Amino acid sequence: MIDIHNHSLFGLDDGPKDIETSLMMLQIAKNDGINEIILTPHIAEEFKYDIENVKENFSILKDKIKEVGIDLKLHLGFEVRIDKELLKKYEDNVEILTVNGMGKYVLLEFPFLDIPLYYKEIIKYFTSADITPIIVHPFRNRKIFSNINFLDELSDLGVLFQFNADDILNKNIFPTFIKVLKKNQVNFVASDAHSIDLRPPILSSSFKNIEKKFKENVAKQLFIENPSKVVKGEFFENKVLIKSNFFAKIKDIFKKEEED
Ligand SMILES: [Fe+2]
Repeated sequence: MIDIHNHSLFGLDDGPKDIETSLMMLQIAKNDGINEIILTPHIAEEFKYDIENVKENFSILKDKIKEVGIDLKLHLGFEVRIDKELLKKYEDNVEILTVNGMGKYVLLEFPFLDIPLYYKEIIKYFTSADITPIIVHPFRNRKIFSNINFLDELSDLGVLFQFNADDILNKNIFPTFIKVLKKNQVNFVASDAHSIDLRPPILSSSFKNIEKKFKENVAKQLFIENPSKVVKGEFFENKVLIKSNFFAKIKDIFKKEEED
């Protein structure tokens, strides 16, 4: 599996404080069947560090895993908060925020409580540069979780969606997750791991749940094939993963008419 959202890079934000904890997290990921990870430190107002600092820690960690024999392929990206003031700093150098600096994909995070008025502007800022935004864990924003139709609006702007592995294991969230999956709006599942215990880099249990409820190819698409496009910077074609059945479609049409 390929984990596209992971905070195992030490000494920067609310991820691990030291390299030893980073190594423990990466070993957990490896044991869980993860082969590639995009390390995604936060770009957010509350975390103040230099990008040079990130690159340095990334290269130290890459060398260290070779030395201790953890066989994982590491990539570098960021989890970028949708914050106009913050993004001004990067307007001449937006590629630096993209996965592996390839200028293809960027992970964007909504604030937890609100939907900023200028969110479209920020998304278009990236899409007009041919960079595809991946909106991370949309359900962490309360307004989005209580109104999943908002995802349609976002989808029309050309974004993709990453959901957290936790969403699949939480019985209060899972039914809503399924609704979104059936609308073909779940593109990736990732760990968003921050530590060895509270949110560890584990994907296998969520993979198995999806495999059991749907088919193996659905799980493979979300945990392996789609993520592989991101690390390679390849074009993403949004395939229909779950075909809704005829009766569900008819019900949908009547529901829409009622709403109109
Ligand atoms: Fe995150």
